[in-house]
Amino acid sequence: MDDGIFKEEWLAEAVEAQSRAYTPYSNFNVGALLVTEDDQHIYGANIENASYPATICAERSALVSAYSNNITKFKALVVVTDANEPASPCGICRQVMKELCHDDMPVYLTSKTGKVIKRTVDDLLPLGFSGKDMENE
Ligand code: THU
Repeated sequence: MDDGIFKEEWLAEAVEAQSRAYTPYSNFNVGALLVTEDDQHIYGANIENASYPATICAERSALVSAYSNNITKFKALVVVTDANEPASPCGICRQVMKELCHDDMPVYLTSKTGKVIKRTVDDLLPLGFSGKDMENE
């Protein structure tokens, strides 16, 4: 992926984040690397729960971790799994990206074999609901 933004070393960092996944139920480990506008790197991994809906996906882990540390400006998100093809973020994560990231922020969906699919937040959730939809004047 040569778009002038993505850096190959980001994939290795997303894999490092993936190694921190807690997945006793699915054994499907997901890693997320969130790159801030000032080039800080925030890691996220999926953290499962015996009450399955309480599971937190890797993408949301990274975003919540960043916000919890007062880091709120992002320039890219990288997601990696062990699947053959780059996995696509779930609907809840797309909605959270819509809330916390800018619409044109790139999201890189990757595989360990080096496949990289680039989409923006808006690509992933076109016509997504946001606070603007609640304005009435
Ligand atoms: N998962 C993520 O972490 N991110 C995604 O985008 C899709 C799904 C996690 C949730 C659960 O721990 C496991 O993958 C299987 O759904």
